[in-house]
Amino acid sequence: MSKLGLLLLVALATLAATTVALDTPYQLSGRVYCDTCHFGFETNVTRYIPGAEVHLECKDEKSDTKLVFRDATKTNERGRFTFHVGEDHGDQYCDVVLVKSPWPHCKNIDPVRGRSRVIITDLNGIRSFRRHANNMGFFQDYVFPVCSDLYKFYFHSDDM
Ligand SMILES: *[C@@H]1O[C@H](CO)[C@@H](O)[C@H](O)[C@H]1NC(C)=O
Repeated sequence: MSKLGLLLLVALATLAATTVALDTPYQLSGRVYCDTCHFGFETNVTRYIPGAEVHLECKDEKSDTKLVFRDATKTNERGRFTFHVGEDHGDQYCDVVLVKSPWPHCKNIDPVRGRSRVIITDLNGIRSFRRHANNMGFFQDYVFPVCSDLYKFYFHSDDM
């Protein structure tokens, strides 16, 4: 490739990168796990689910059922999802919700940890456009045998 060609390529790549950054300022991410102990939170034997379907949904009012915005994505190999959101949703109620697990033995949504409220707006003084959603979980159909030992550890209790 000629020097000019290379220069042009670099310039175009830089332009593309800048455009993407401007188009999608908000990067919203979190992880999807399989609750292998049914504790309702993550433990050191929690598994993270690749390919889980997650939606981002926004409504105008808290009580609304009508969505004004929706996006869908799937978790990566480490169970992490990322939404790229182009515009401010500061005046809306937005939630990340679990939709579907690809694991047949771990597909029941935890009613408490199955959704996560997110704030997609330019928070005063916060320079970063990264936003974190609470991790969300599905219940495994059975619990690992080790969970009874872990219970004592996580709940500081001897009776189970
Ligand atoms: C998880 O934590 C418990 C309590 O500290 C420990 O006994 C166990 O070995 C840990 N298991 C794994 C897989 O790290």
